[in-house]
Amino acid sequence: MKIAPSILSADFANLQADVKKVEQAGANYLHIDIMDGHFVDNLTFGPLIVKALRPKSNLVFDCHLMVSEPEKYLVDLAEYGADIIGVHVEATKHIHRVLSKIKALHKKCEVVVNPGTPITTLIEVLPLVDQVLVMSVDPGFGGQAFLDTSLKKVEQLVKFRQAHNLAFEIEIDGGINEITAPKALQAGVDVLVAGSYIFGAKDPKRSIVTLKNYANR
Ligand code: DX5
Ligand code: ZN
Repeated sequence: MKIAPSILSADFANLQADVKKVEQAGANYLHIDIMDGHFVDNLTFGPLIVKALRPKSNLVFDCHLMVSEPEKYLVDLAEYGADIIGVHVEATKHIHRVLSKIKALHKKCEVVVNPGTPITTLIEVLPLVDQVLVMSVDPGFGGQAFLDTSLKKVEQLVKFRQAHNLAFEIEIDGGINEITAPKALQAGVDVLVAGSYIFGAKDPKRSIVTLKNYANR
């Protein structure tokens, strides 16, 4: 199981220090939430944040694009050092083309699905992707409550993966804490994203260790 702290809840004035902190605490990925104020009702940062952080960290950069027209940002993200690029199935009419472009840039490609979108919309691209991100909140903000309906979707993905002999990883994002993480792991997730539970804690290391311990049970 992997842990992906989301920098959305980090201290933007001390980003480098916060990233170091979670890296030293055993995080695996750094989850980077790119929002455009159009696909979601919030604005964060663009590919330049990847460029700025890349020389400061060895973590896998897991970029979650919450933007309309995601294809516009792929080349910059790849050049600046993204490792995984995630695109919402709801953000483009051409999800197959966008995911293929990410692969052609030699980056791991991920499809992301909102709480209101069924897993059936992903079936055609599942053989192509390296990772599927199941949103367990409506995207745009940190600190929202976990939606239990996401668990059924994780289970559906686990079944599909097994039935079709695929190898994509399943990530979950939104409302992960010590109550919801065990449920998500039970359902079969491979990667836990956590923002406020890690960066909002007095001791982010303790949060990471707690999440890792659930996986070992
Ligand atoms: C929300 C983002 C999440 C967010 C999660 O749209 O995609 O990555 O940072 O925050 P928490 O863990 O606080 O729900
Ligand atoms: Zn995210």
